[in-house]
Amino acid sequence: MHAPLAKLQQIPASVAAVNDYEPLARERMTPYAFAYLSGASADEWTLRENSAVFDRWILRPRVLRDLGGGNTRLTLFGQSFLYPIMLAPVAYHALFHPAGELETVVAATAMQAGMIVSTQASVPLEDIAAAAKTPLWFQLYIQPDRDFTAALVRRAEASGYKALVVTVDAPVNGIRNREQRAGFQQPAGAEAVNLRGMRIPAAAPVDDDTLLLGGPLLATAPTWKDIAWLRSLTTLPILLKGILTPDDAIVGIEEGADGIIVSNHGGRTLDHGPATIDALPPIVAAVENRVPVLMDGGIRRGSDVFTALALGAKAVLIGRPYAYGLAAAGATGAAHVLRILRAELEITMAQTGCKDLAAIGPDAVAARPR
Ligand code: GLV
Repeated sequence: MHAPLAKLQQIPASVAAVNDYEPLARERMTPYAFAYLSGASADEWTLRENSAVFDRWILRPRVLRDLGGGNTRLTLFGQSFLYPIMLAPVAYHALFHPAGELETVVAATAMQAGMIVSTQASVPLEDIAAAAKTPLWFQLYIQPDRDFTAALVRRAEASGYKALVVTVDAPVNGIRNREQRAGFQQPAGAEAVNLRGMRIPAAAPVDDDTLLLGGPLLATAPTWKDIAWLRSLTTLPILLKGILTPDDAIVGIEEGADGIIVSNHGGRTLDHGPATIDALPPIVAAVENRVPVLMDGGIRRGSDVFTALALGAKAVLIGRPYAYGLAAAGATGAAHVLRILRAELEITMAQTGCKDLAAIGPDAVAARPR
């Protein structure tokens, strides 16, 4: 095993696309950290499918339209964003860069991108907020200790986070075979510091017949009641991340959610669930513009962002791509990933005759003819 190389100080001229960062990141990470970041659940079918399904859509080029005075701006929950690409919550940035989320927030600030900070960040959420000059949202895992969960929400509010992104697709971890095979262990320095001091419920004795169902873990897993509880606790907008069916989107809105994020956790939870770009259109149809629908999963090109917007997403989140940028070249790499995607989105818009996001409608894409 070779020691990881030092971070790049400059971006090599050969880096043209977001995917060019993955091999550069791999050389600069331990094999365990790389397995954690690149791996997904079980056979990783959903991980592959997330990207592969973009090939089933074609863009419809439109020519000679007036493109003057265009932009990629959007407003979500009264907050302005320059462009519809945000940094998804990803745990433990210290696995990718020694400065962890403090490095990422430099990239987000430089690129004026929205950033969603994970409950499992390796840096205190207050320190990240103090370093940010760009909108931050806080990703919340509802903890078995609900008082601690409420305290986390208060900390996020007090530090100026502008929305809560509640991850709802992980009552238990996914079947992380790639991590297991690599012998992944949490290294020192990549601790979920924001969860320090939390009461861990005493594991009730589990009888021999019980593996998981019937055990203490699932007894404390969040339910819809907790969404209603959160709604009563805070005035921050609440987005539910990890919705894959129209039915759950509707229940979520009824329980008080202000936004839906169509996500399969980058294929890291349930393998063989649907690709997000397949799940998106029926959810958008069912939600009928009552709340914004965002999506993540498989976005590697500006044309992917465009397709997601054409199918009704208001914005997209990227995860692995910026983490690879961070692991390869720190804040410069993560910022460059955002820059590439943003530039590609604008080029795609110009070539499809869309001068702003409102122009990207369902007729901007078509199913690929067989
Ligand atoms: C954490 O949420 C993970 O996907 O590893």
